[in-house]
Amino acid sequence: MSVSRRSFLRGVGATGGAGAMFGAMGALGLAPAAVAAPTAAFTPPKPSDFSLTGRSARTVLVLGAGIAGLTTAYELGKAGYRVTLLEGRRRPGGRNWTVRGGDTETDLNGETQRVRFAEGQYMNAGPARIPQHHVTMDYCRELGVPLEPFVNQNANALVHYTGDTALSNRSITHRAAKADTFGYVSELLAKATNAGALDAELTAEDQEALLVFLRNFGDLSEGDRYTGGTGRRGYDVAPAAGLESGTVSPAPSLEDVVRSGIGRNFSFELGWSQAMMMFQPVGGMDRIPYALEKAVGPSKVRYGCEVTGVRTTPTGGEVDYTDAAGVPRTATADFVVNTLPPHLAARVPHNLGPGVQAALETPVPAPTGKIGLEYSRRWWEEDARIYGGITNTDLDLAGIWYPSSGYHGERGVVVGYYNYGDAARSYAALPHAQRRQRAVVNGAKIHGDVYGKDIASSFSVSWGVTRFSEAGWVGWADQEGQAYRTLLAPQGNVYFAGDHLSHAIAWMHGAMTSARATVTALHQRVMSS
Ligand code: ALA
Repeated sequence: MSVSRRSFLRGVGATGGAGAMFGAMGALGLAPAAVAAPTAAFTPPKPSDFSLTGRSARTVLVLGAGIAGLTTAYELGKAGYRVTLLEGRRRPGGRNWTVRGGDTETDLNGETQRVRFAEGQYMNAGPARIPQHHVTMDYCRELGVPLEPFVNQNANALVHYTGDTALSNRSITHRAAKADTFGYVSELLAKATNAGALDAELTAEDQEALLVFLRNFGDLSEGDRYTGGTGRRGYDVAPAAGLESGTVSPAPSLEDVVRSGIGRNFSFELGWSQAMMMFQPVGGMDRIPYALEKAVGPSKVRYGCEVTGVRTTPTGGEVDYTDAAGVPRTATADFVVNTLPPHLAARVPHNLGPGVQAALETPVPAPTGKIGLEYSRRWWEEDARIYGGITNTDLDLAGIWYPSSGYHGERGVVVGYYNYGDAARSYAALPHAQRRQRAVVNGAKIHGDVYGKDIASSFSVSWGVTRFSEAGWVGWADQEGQAYRTLLAPQGNVYFAGDHLSHAIAWMHGAMTSARATVTALHQRVMSS
């Protein structure tokens, strides 16, 4: 290695640009490492790629106008690709669906729900939160989609777990549950440290540093004991004017806190993609697909078109579909990008071979569902001082979400459950009225009778029985293996894209980065042909 550090960096800078050089400097300890998560590099195709090389823009058929399909069309469109999207639904977005008053949906159980939410009220039936580091934020900036904070954690939201402990079947604020859990865990670890249990692990000096942390983290009192702390867990009498210093509400015992498992879900908010800050588009998550549709050109999207056949041919790709009037048609293009959910693509006849068929059948569809309860009084704000955020429970609701907008308004839509797995399956099997009844009975266990009052309207979605989706998302047992890799590669002139072909499944980020990867691969192929 005779190359000097300076010439190495110059080389990195010349080939990779300033960002790469700065990154390399960080790695060499010469610059602060970037704090933000790196986003995979992406260069959209540009018109000059064609005009300067004497190539003509190609045609592409995109199957599905969800986030992956729209992003594919949008990015290809930047270079002048002539793109047509075929979409089964009458709206863009796929699972990115904001339910509003006037919408009508018939599920695969055969039940039709008409949404009666008041003007301005909505529920994001699919995606509902965007982390700061997702590429979704970049598209919101690029497309001018206004954002507002989404409250993913709230100290005043609740935990409610069933069982036979002293803290079971009770609603406890996140605030109190955290103070007590962190307090007692800190006390235990301090006790172990003070008793010499960590002598083999840490020097005396490091043990002292650990104790400094634990006293702060756990709000420990004299003797490194947790006695309810200094007010973190909340007050019976709040601090106020004059001599009113407040009365801290008494903490439950160590045994009760440990036994109850009230801290079982706290790690959720540490997740890479679940940590605050999080965001939502003002007015509904579907502002994103509508912005993409507008940028693509609404005339490029053919709605009500159900794909019935996909073929690669020596000269391009061919797609059979029935149009909005039920007329069978065939479309051709230089390339096809198939963004249908894999389990639905598996039902469409194709000539891509048994390997592709097996691959499409491999990922497992995951059920999930939500109910939107529109209240004519924001009791969660007025009575419980909960402004946004999520209550966690092991009741089959899994979570109750309070709206992150419209504070102090007249009404609001609470997501009465957002569940998965068996709970989602059991709700999916019920007609809406019974889903609602069950959601309200369980919600009342958490919030009391107020939960059943002032409900103006409701709507529930079960993604497993929702046409054109039939799942909330899919799961792969193996994202290294043959099946997954088969769908990452072009099959003749047919490409696949979607969040299922990413490591951000069930996130728009996954759909968008998958679309970008497919656009890059397709464009490189065109440029090298
Ligand atoms: N990304 C989905 C969520 O945040 C699964 O709930």
